[in-house]
Amino acid sequence: MRITRLGSALGARVDGLDVTAGLDAGTVEGLYQALVDHAVLVIPAPGLTPDQHMALGRAFGEIEVHAFFPNLGSGYEQVSVLDSAQGNTASMWHTDESFLPHPPMGTLTHAEVLPEVGGDTLFASTSAAYDALSPNMKAYLEGLVAVHDLSRTTELRFRFGGATPQQYADAIAADRRSLHPVVRTHPETGAKGLFVNPTYTRHIAGLPPDESDAVLQFLCRHSVKEPFTYRHRWADGDLLVWDNRATMHMVLNDFEGHRLMHRVSVVGHAGG
Ligand code: OGA
Ligand code: MN
Repeated sequence: MRITRLGSALGARVDGLDVTAGLDAGTVEGLYQALVDHAVLVIPAPGLTPDQHMALGRAFGEIEVHAFFPNLGSGYEQVSVLDSAQGNTASMWHTDESFLPHPPMGTLTHAEVLPEVGGDTLFASTSAAYDALSPNMKAYLEGLVAVHDLSRTTELRFRFGGATPQQYADAIAADRRSLHPVVRTHPETGAKGLFVNPTYTRHIAGLPPDESDAVLQFLCRHSVKEPFTYRHRWADGDLLVWDNRATMHMVLNDFEGHRLMHRVSVVGHAGG
């Protein structure tokens, strides 16, 4: 297994690994360490099957059924599908499922169908973003807690006619909300990271609304400044693994044609 860095803040390529074969415990440990070190791993995995994909996910922990993406069904519920043909592009910055009490610790996404050009994925290191804050801002954020809410995505669609008032009302009533610290600590590295995103984070608890909006807007913009990012141009068969405890990501919705990904997320735990 050879590791080559791809970005200053995050991202590395892993070569010399056949992920379609079972991985021994030592290799899994090395891969996990590489994930913790680089936050995003790019692994060539042409022909990866759903069974192999799930097995690889299970090497990192228990795998989840995604809260809202469709999946492959009957025995493959843990393989979710991000399909541009179904209107799913994930084109706003987010950390996966941050509305859950324990969002996934990581996601493994395999390119099944790629557009001819475009559809790159941007990643941002939440620890690099935190480190670059002023001491005053770090002190201000200490102890703040934010509300992450799945219905925020429905609200955004509602605003632009993509969801009906009833769908929006139902999404709010479903109450898929969780509180998370605005600054989280990575359970493996101990590094502090910013943990807010423009997709799910509604507000900072206990702050006047205009203050919360202003602070969140600043943090969301700050989090994705170029020095904290890595941009991935997908090649056929690429498998990307990201540490959802240390990153945000978004797909550039600049493509025509079909983009279809299979994804497996690994369950996160309290404190992780
Ligand atoms: C996801 C996601 C990014 C991509 O699977 O959670 O945001 O590049 N996908 O498809
Ligand atoms: Mn995602």
